[in-house]
Amino acid sequence: TDAAAVRIVEVGPRDGLQNEKQALPVATRVEFVQKLVAAGLKSIEVGSFVSPKWVPQMSGSDEVLRRLPVAAGVRYTALVPNLKGFEAALASGCKEIAVFAAASESFSRRNINCSVSESIVRFRPVAELAKAHGIALRGYVSCVMGCPYEGDIAPSAVASVAAQLHALGCHEISLGDTIGAGSPRQTRELIRACAAELPLAVLAGHFHDTYGMAVANVDAALNAGVTVFDASVSGLGGCPYSPGATGNVATEELVYLFERLGISTGIDLDKLIDAGRFIDAQLGRSSASKVAVARSSA
Ligand code: HMG
Ligand code: MG
Repeated sequence: TDAAAVRIVEVGPRDGLQNEKQALPVATRVEFVQKLVAAGLKSIEVGSFVSPKWVPQMSGSDEVLRRLPVAAGVRYTALVPNLKGFEAALASGCKEIAVFAAASESFSRRNINCSVSESIVRFRPVAELAKAHGIALRGYVSCVMGCPYEGDIAPSAVASVAAQLHALGCHEISLGDTIGAGSPRQTRELIRACAAELPLAVLAGHFHDTYGMAVANVDAALNAGVTVFDASVSGLGGCPYSPGATGNVATEELVYLFERLGISTGIDLDKLIDAGRFIDAQLGRSSASKVAVARSSA
């Protein structure tokens, strides 16, 4: 690849913590995000404005956003599924929101209780209000390389939903391998299909590591021209509506990979590992990052 720099979107405080059994208090979540900022992360997804009955771990996301100090060049993002979520995000001072759709009808129903086309209809007024308030809009497509309920998903189905999100005004569309079932070859085909419908520069890769393919998929997407990647420090995460799915690719793995490729990330690996140690201690878990484990025993 000839990319000189990539951008890593840290999703641990949202995609990671939403899937941990133990819900962490707001103060701990704020401290965690501050450690990620100290490591050099500039794009951090810090919470979601969804139903606390569906995802109790993310309740208090408004408080998290209110307490986070403004940091130069840092953007905090939160998931928003509907207008109610948007109002709460706006009130908390959130400057970037993310709407989330799926390439699979069954997943859409289980995750946000509506069909894919209904979700796009729900996102439209959210997108309009975001624009009116100067709030940046990101979009997700889930199940891009497989669905826990439907199995294989056609790349053309993903490209179609991604194009609809782009038309809504999403500046970036993150392609989510929710169940971590994809392979590098599939990743190449996926990026090719999406790049036929919308600019490569708006695509981001969001790979879960269920089958251990996430780093390989990131490399495949990078070689296909993608330069934005989502990751969770320490490999936190999963998805409550995707049985068996494990965490996102570990941020440490991506920083190490890009460093070794001579691609700049702006992230300090040692400080990142510290942030991972902090959150693992809070959760009583051990790191799912091989890089963090290797560095700790070196
Ligand atoms: P629903 O039950 O269809 O909503 O849920 P409703 O409009 O019928 O309202 C029912 C109740 O929910 C009402 O409360 C509403 O006020 C409340 P009640 O009157 O019963 O007390 N409600 C809300 N409360 C707080 N915030 C809101 C909100 N909206 C309604 N925004 C809804 C629809 C979308 C709310 C629900 O299905 C939900 O919250 N789902 C959670 C989805 C979620 O967070 N999933 C995980 C994130 S997606 C993911 O992880 C994938 C990703 O990482 C990419 C990848 O890996 O693929 C992004
Ligand atoms: Mg995810």
